[in-house]
Amino acid sequence: MHNATEKVFVAQKNVVGVDIGSNSIKLINLKENRQGVHLQAFDMAMLPPETVVDGALLNFTAIVEKLKEMISANKLRSKNVAVSVSGHSVIIKKISLPEMTPEELEESIQWEAEQYIPFDIKDVNVDVQIINPKAGQEQMDVLLVAAKKDVLQDYISVIQEAGLKPNVVDVDTFAVQNMFELNYGFPPNETIALVNIGASVININVIADSITTFTRDISMGGGLLTSEIQRQLNISYEEAEHYKTAGAGNITNSTIAREVQAMSERIALTLVNEIQRSLDFYAATTVNADISRIYLSGGSAQITGLIRSLEQSLEVPVELVNPFKNIIVDAKKFDVDLLQRMAPVAAVAVGLGLRKPGDKL
Ligand SMILES: Nc1ncnc2c1ncn2[C@@H]1O[C@H](COP(=O)(O)OP(=O)(O)OP(=O)(O)O)[C@@H](O)[C@H]1O
Ligand SMILES: [Mg+2]
Repeated sequence: MHNATEKVFVAQKNVVGVDIGSNSIKLINLKENRQGVHLQAFDMAMLPPETVVDGALLNFTAIVEKLKEMISANKLRSKNVAVSVSGHSVIIKKISLPEMTPEELEESIQWEAEQYIPFDIKDVNVDVQIINPKAGQEQMDVLLVAAKKDVLQDYISVIQEAGLKPNVVDVDTFAVQNMFELNYGFPPNETIALVNIGASVININVIADSITTFTRDISMGGGLLTSEIQRQLNISYEEAEHYKTAGAGNITNSTIAREVQAMSERIALTLVNEIQRSLDFYAATTVNADISRIYLSGGSAQITGLIRSLEQSLEVPVELVNPFKNIIVDAKKFDVDLLQRMAPVAAVAVGLGLRKPGDKL
């Protein structure tokens, strides 16, 4: 985890960000210097269906193979890698503890954490971050992150098998948060929500005055639409993915285009309802809960009708994030148009690529 308030210029090479999603792997290499953050490499590779299920890596071979292809196709400045996990295998909780020093917290957390997580403490890696050292009544607010060891080990193994060094392990939610901080910064005295909608997970992160107040991973995503298109049109996963990403305007058969459009709008509503349920829960459990804006990322943020219906049901402005907004891109080295089209799926990878070797979860 990266302390968002810490801003130290370290002349150390960034790690390579590797985001292993259920739909595709994204790989990025950034370089930070006094001019800013430069893009050195960005690549994406689709994965076959059922490669990553519920955050668990089921098809090692497919992942390692794609990773190796990406590594040899891109000149990487480092072998160190940051990966991230999300979904069922991760628990993020904001808890209140008596005020103590970071050292004391480090010592007691293993014991403290037990009551907050639904897993056996022996099966998880626990990390903590003090987000508000003086929350009142001699209490402090702490963000507790617990991730299942067996799942972490799988991510570490694929990176090693591909010939790289797993160095930083993060969670998708905080990677998106770091990406956002670089490109937009956190508005003071305002509450915003970052919502990353992938193929099988939606990561929600409500940030008040630059501090996380609520997070939730929903095990649902644009993969629902892929399955629906497959079923209704009786076509393969790859064909269905093609129809989704081509956009209705590029489907030559107008009957199919209309059907895809209708399915998109229906699934968009399903996803919006789930997001609304989580944000309703947040609102019901928080004082001064008003969210001023929602920032979307993830490939499925582009589903036709999703942004509109999210705006309508939550009555909050919704904006698609550009993860490359403040990243310096050399137009001689990159196809800038292509990069912009891929931008929504790059959110997690950019956040991972900002990390430095040795950063903690
Ligand atoms: N233009 C588009 N319109 C609709 N859906 C799209 C579009 N582009 C990509 N998608 C969908 O976005 C999803 C991929 O997004 P993303 O790369 O964020 O997911 P992921 O990281 O692979 O998955 P996850 O993190 O959920 O396991 C796929 O379901 C893909 O079909
Ligand atoms: Mg993802």
